[in-house]
Amino acid sequence: MSYKVKVFGAGSIGNHLSNASRTMGWSVDLCDLDPAALERTKTEIYPQRYGAWDESISLYQNDDAPKGGYDLIFVGTPPDSHMSLALAAIEEAPKAILVEKPLCGPGLEGAQELAEAAKAKNVQIFVGYDHVVGSASVEASTKPQAIGIGDIETIDVEFREHWGGIFAAHPWLNGPEDTYLGYWQRGGGSSGEHSHAINLWQHFAHSVGVGRIVEVSAMLDYINDGNVNYDKLCVLNVVTENGMIGRIVQDVVTNPPRKWGRIQGSNGYVEWQCGVKAGVDRVSWKSGDAGTNIKDVEKTRPQDFIMELTHIKNVLEGTVQDSPISLERGLDTMLVVAAAHLSAREKRTVRIDYSMGYTPAALKFA
Ligand SMILES: NC(=O)c1ccc[n+]([C@@H]2O[C@H](COP(=O)([O-])OP(=O)(O)OC[C@H]3O[C@@H](n4cnc5c(N)ncnc54)[C@H](O)[C@@H]3O)[C@@H](O)[C@H]2O)c1
Repeated sequence: MSYKVKVFGAGSIGNHLSNASRTMGWSVDLCDLDPAALERTKTEIYPQRYGAWDESISLYQNDDAPKGGYDLIFVGTPPDSHMSLALAAIEEAPKAILVEKPLCGPGLEGAQELAEAAKAKNVQIFVGYDHVVGSASVEASTKPQAIGIGDIETIDVEFREHWGGIFAAHPWLNGPEDTYLGYWQRGGGSSGEHSHAINLWQHFAHSVGVGRIVEVSAMLDYINDGNVNYDKLCVLNVVTENGMIGRIVQDVVTNPPRKWGRIQGSNGYVEWQCGVKAGVDRVSWKSGDAGTNIKDVEKTRPQDFIMELTHIKNVLEGTVQDSPISLERGLDTMLVVAAAHLSAREKRTVRIDYSMGYTPAALKFA
């Protein structure tokens, strides 16, 4: 089935999602507030990344963009605009909306409202944590059960990556001060930008049945010089509903980067690593006395987003039932990000009470 897609944000992710949509054979209207961003898309980002501009993509400034009649709406703008754009997108009644990560700011503004509006209007929402639908993480999350690694002892995930690479992909930005990345309250810093790690940790925990994160003890290293205000390092110790302790590390300083995760059982382990070398993700595992197995998965960056959109298509068409990039999963990740900042500020362990919804009232001191 061919879908009609509207994309908000003609920046880095908006181009990836537009290109992936076109590869799927879908039609694309790409919108931005900034005419310079639309021009840059057509003359620089898209042709430089994918070889040539695609004339079938229609470019609009937001106010001139058509409303209604879309199958899918993608929100690929900075995090502090996600909630208002997603709420407005629900009013256009598409089949589904994909909102980029992090879903909102750590203040959780609009989070509960979005969950309620999506339910009331019966619009499916996905959140752009694309790593959990990549081939390597699908393999890593199903392996523990398939090979038998015993009782789950702990889970550890790191997304440690100097953000020089992000700025290299955004040559029009001088540094973190020019964008949300330099401000943790707007969804930037390592806690927001690399929240893929929290999300992947939660995905692994869900896959092996150890429950949701209910306790967070965090240390964050903030850079606040009166200009920028972001966390360069975010270290979390967490506890799940069934009492399992694990660790998550996110930073914007590590070079070369390390995006890695491990599920450790009493009788074996499964490890996942993104970008073990250029264009290769790796899954390795061991069960009992058997030797270590290694499987390399080759992929390109554009393929990450084709995988993500293929997943969304499969969910909408009913061939996949359960989505690890559902709104609920993205909101659970935001609760942990919010708990991390509160824990770091108060130097106390924070408990998450899921019965209070996606609001600051869900965060309590242990
Ligand atoms: N899933 C991933 O791997 C991945 C990769 C890159 C970025 N992202 C996420 O995508 C989001 C955007 O990041 P980016 O790197 O593309 O940023 P960017 O700065 O490259 O582009 C953002 C664009 O959004 C536009 N914009 C801002 N407010 C808008 C609005 N209300 N309506 C329409 N356009 C608006 C800006 O003018 C800009 O052109 C962030 O939340 C980021 O974390 C996710």
